[in-house]
Amino acid sequence: MSKHEMLGAPRGAKQRELACTINGEDMKLEVNGAKRLLSVLRDDLALTGTKRSCEIGRCGACMVLVDGKPINACLTMAYQCAGKQITTIEGIGAADGGIEPIQRAFLEEGGFQCGYCTPGMIISVKALLDRSPDPSEEEVEEALSGNICRCTGYGGIKRAVQRAIEWRREAP
Ligand code: FES
Ligand code: FES
Repeated sequence: MSKHEMLGAPRGAKQRELACTINGEDMKLEVNGAKRLLSVLRDDLALTGTKRSCEIGRCGACMVLVDGKPINACLTMAYQCAGKQITTIEGIGAADGGIEPIQRAFLEEGGFQCGYCTPGMIISVKALLDRSPDPSEEEVEEALSGNICRCTGYGGIKRAVQRAIEWRREAP
């Protein structure tokens, strides 16, 4: 349990059933009413690609898709995800089982160094390109405004996004 849950969990919060889809799989989970989505993913389901960092919605390391929209799993109560489709970085991949073009672009363009922020960045970029395949520079900046990287100058990240846009444009 995170320190925020220890501090913020109401006494006697009840167990609730959570039915949702995670990475395409229908799930029925018993979760405490005070539990965050981030804890369910990482601690209960061992989906540790979603990173835990600030836990106050500032860094974007915990970004996942909920019904296709990027959200901070650290700020989302698990019970709020009932009936939703959740996609974590483990659920992102090419149709043939390989890596997604966005992931390949990050690898080839040096879009990461320690890589802690990378899953959240890829989730944010995927959400952007799924809704806007040819985004302006401002749209890219806006889409990544909730993702902090502490160890690159963002140059590699921006090149990776541009490369991913080109590959997606060229894809049949
Ligand atoms: S861990 Fe969720 S925004 Fe930082
Ligand atoms: S690569 Fe280290 S925080 Fe982004």
